[in-house]
Formats: sequence, structure tokens, C-alpha cells
Amino acid sequence: MFMGLGRADTSKKRDKTKRHVKMSVGEANHMIFLGKSGYGKTTLMRGLVEEINIAHNMAKIPAMIIVLEKKTDHTKAEKIHEIYNTETEKSSDNKIYKKYGEWVWNYIENYIQMQNQYKEHLGMMGDFAFGVPNIIGKFYKYDDKNTFLGRQGLQPYVFPTRRFVFRPRRRKEYISMDNGWHMCKVFDGKIPYDKIPFSLLSALSNLGDQAIYAQRLKNIWEVQGIKDPDIVKGIALEYENNKSNPSATYLRIAETMYQIKNDKLFSKKDTLFTNLSTDAINVIDFSSNSDLTHEEECLIFKFLVMYAINYASQTRTPIYFVVDEVQNMLTDKNGQWAVDKILREGRSMGINLITATQYMYGLPQSLLMGASHVGIIGRLASHTDWKVLNKLIDDFEDSVEPPDPVSTYTQYEDFKKKMKFKGWFSWDKSYTDRIEFRQPQSL
Ligand SMILES: Nc1ncnc2c1ncn2[C@@H]1O[C@H](COP(=O)(O)OP(=O)(O)O)[C@@H](O)[C@H]1O
Ligand SMILES: [Mg+2]
Repeated sequence: MFMGLGRADTSKKRDKTKRHVKMSVGEANHMIFLGKSGYGKTTLMRGLVEEINIAHNMAKIPAMIIVLEKKTDHTKAEKIHEIYNTETEKSSDNKIYKKYGEWVWNYIENYIQMQNQYKEHLGMMGDFAFGVPNIIGKFYKYDDKNTFLGRQGLQPYVFPTRRFVFRPRRRKEYISMDNGWHMCKVFDGKIPYDKIPFSLLSALSNLGDQAIYAQRLKNIWEVQGIKDPDIVKGIALEYENNKSNPSATYLRIAETMYQIKNDKLFSKKDTLFTNLSTDAINVIDFSSNSDLTHEEECLIFKFLVMYAINYASQTRTPIYFVVDEVQNMLTDKNGQWAVDKILREGRSMGINLITATQYMYGLPQSLLMGASHVGIIGRLASHTDWKVLNKLIDDFEDSVEPPDPVSTYTQYEDFKKKMKFKGWFSWDKSYTDRIEFRQPQSL
């Protein structure tokens, strides 16, 4: 897969060469991307997912891509408005069509129209809106001659997406309109009852572990493994001496069962795992579109990894987990479990982990040790980080400049401009080169 533009190997220093990463099917190629916020980690992750999708389509080897999305980015919709206004003021339709492509511009026009119509409901695109063509990269100039996309010979493009929201906070139609419309199918992600662990039940209804009702429910749910709210109520009733006037213990259990039946996160039927697809990019929407606790997000991640292991071992399908801001997942035992599991068992099953973070401090060594390739975007956060990587990567010292703190605001602005979407990439932690990372074709 195409990573971006590297330095030429020949003596012609100015020339750029396309750089690729070989992804071998049947083993895992974990990658981690480090760098301070704002230099383009999320943007790069989007580009990489597109590249993975394209590479697998061309090779006709279906792959399952699962992206955990943490945020929405309201600046994207604002930028689209700006670009729309600027272009329509200064250029003719024909010129605009020629620059962006007719369908891209039509898409943008439609989006602007919808946004005017549903003002308060739209404008919150996800960090990974694979269904929206990237007009920003086609508008902003890299230098006098090229736009960011143009420089790499790329055009705005869209990719079919399945987006899973949990206890949705706005209508699915709006979420879809924001993230690619017909290219983005939105699903209500529901966890089937039989996957709910007792610990989650207990957390959901503040059961406390010692009380009799908690013990009794644990016995039915976990020990007997009966995970159906109606049946559980029936069994709990059988414990009662006076069935027409049941005890508080029974009432608490009944209440908890009522609660999960009414919770939009759960259902008898599975609507999450059965709808994951190799024909589309799967985005797990943990942004403000979903109403989840941190524990629930980590638990869903764990379930996804368990599902992936099963799926990979049965079908030999390559699987890619893309986790931006991975440090969030590592503060919870289920999140840790999920990351550990992929690092440990992914390799033999072709389950890949691609992560990004700005925080190296406190990051488990396993994440760095387990990565085949390490990328740095913009700059590292500290000298300590530089030293850690220096121990890990053979040619680090000779290739990567230490992060010099900037001392004036102008310096900071210049540096940011100069290093945005650029950095270093270390192949197999053995060969490190400067690189301009691949731009995403979608927003
Ligand atoms: N082609 C582009 N030109 C200029 N800015 C862009 C372009 N594409 C994305 N951006 C903006 O760059 C910013 C930083 O990128 P992001 O990937 O979010 O950084 P990080 O994840 O490292 O914090 C975002 O606000 C994004 O909207
Ligand atoms: Mg980011």
C-alpha cells in the first residue's frame, strides 16, 4: 500500500519517490503513529484506511476494516462552506467542475443545501467520513503549483461505509447525511443479551456485589448462563415463597431486567456483529453521535476483537483494527485486553492493529514492541519520547531530528505549516525515512 512520498534514492536530492508498505496476508503488520496533536495523525489514518481498502479490492482479497472513531470534527463542515463560497464567487461552474469533478461539486452543492434545510441537525462529520469527498485537500495549496491531493496524483473520492451508532443521540438519517449520505449506511449497534456480562448488568443498575438480589441475579445470569430478561424474571419468581407478593429481591431483579429490555444498547437480536462487512469500511461511532460510557466503549471493543478472532480463524479473512487516540482504550481493563489480544494473537491470524497517539508516556511497551512499523507525524512531544524510540529503532539517531522546542510564536506557526502531514516512517523498525504521508481522498 502507498504510504506517501519519500526521498529519492538517487543523487537527485529534490526528486520524490512513492513509498509503499508491503502487507502480507496471513500475518499481521501492526503499525503505530506518534506525534503531537494537530499535525495530521487522524488525517493520515483516514488515508491509510483508504489505501488498505483499495489494495484489497485490487487484489480481490476481501478484508474487514474496523475503525474506532472517537470524535466528530465540526471544522470540516465549516471549511466546506468557506470553499463553496470562495469558489462560487470567483469561478464559473465549468472551471469548478474541471477542478473538483462534476459529481464532487454536485455532492458539495447538495450538502450545502441540506445543511441549510436541517441547520441544527447537520454539520457534525465524523473524524472518519469516508463517504464524503475531500474537497479540502483539493482546495488548499501545498505550494504554488500543487494542491495537497494534486501533489500526490490523487483526486477526491468516496468509499462505501457502514457506520454503527449506539443509543443514537440524533436521527440516523442526519448521521448518514453528514457522513456520505448514500455512501454511508447507518446501523443501530445493539449488543445481544447473551453477550452482556454480569459485570455490565451490575454497573448499569448499581447492584453492588454483596446484596442478595445481586447474588441471585449473578447465579442465574452468569452461573446458569440464562441471558434472556423474560426467562430470568420467571426463574427469579420461582425462588419466591409467595409468588403473588414477591420480595424486594425479586422486584430489584425484575427492575434490572426491565431496564435492559428498555435500553437501546441491547436487544435479543444482534445488529452489530452480523452487519459488519467486507464490502464497506466499518466505522464504530464512539463520537457524540453515540451515548456510551467509557467502560461500554471498551467493552464493545473487546467484543469486536473476540468476534474478529472467531471470524478470522473461520474464514482466514485479513482484519484491520484502526484505533485513533489509542491511549483512551488503555485506561480500562477490557480495552487493555483487546489491544493485548491483537498484539499477541493477531500475528498468526492476520489481524492487524493500526494505532495513533500523542502520548507515549505511560504507553505500554508492548504496543511499541509489537509494531512492525512506526511512524512519526510532525514532531514528537518530548525528548524522552525521542530517547525511547532511539532504543527501539535501529537507525533512529541518524534519521530523526530530536524535537527542538520552538521559542517564538512565529517559529511555532512556521514549523507547524512545514511539518503538517509530514514526518518519518520506519519500515520494520530498521529503515527510517522522511516522508510526506498519503493524503486522504475522503473527508
Ligand atoms: N488538506 C488539508 N489541508 C489543510 N488542513 C487540513 C487538510 N486536511 C485536514 N486538515 C485539517 O488539519 C487538522 C489537523 O489534522 P488531524 O489529522 O486532526 O491532526 P491530529 O489527529 O494529529 O490531531 C484538522 O483540523 C483538519 O481539519
Ligand atoms: Mg486526531
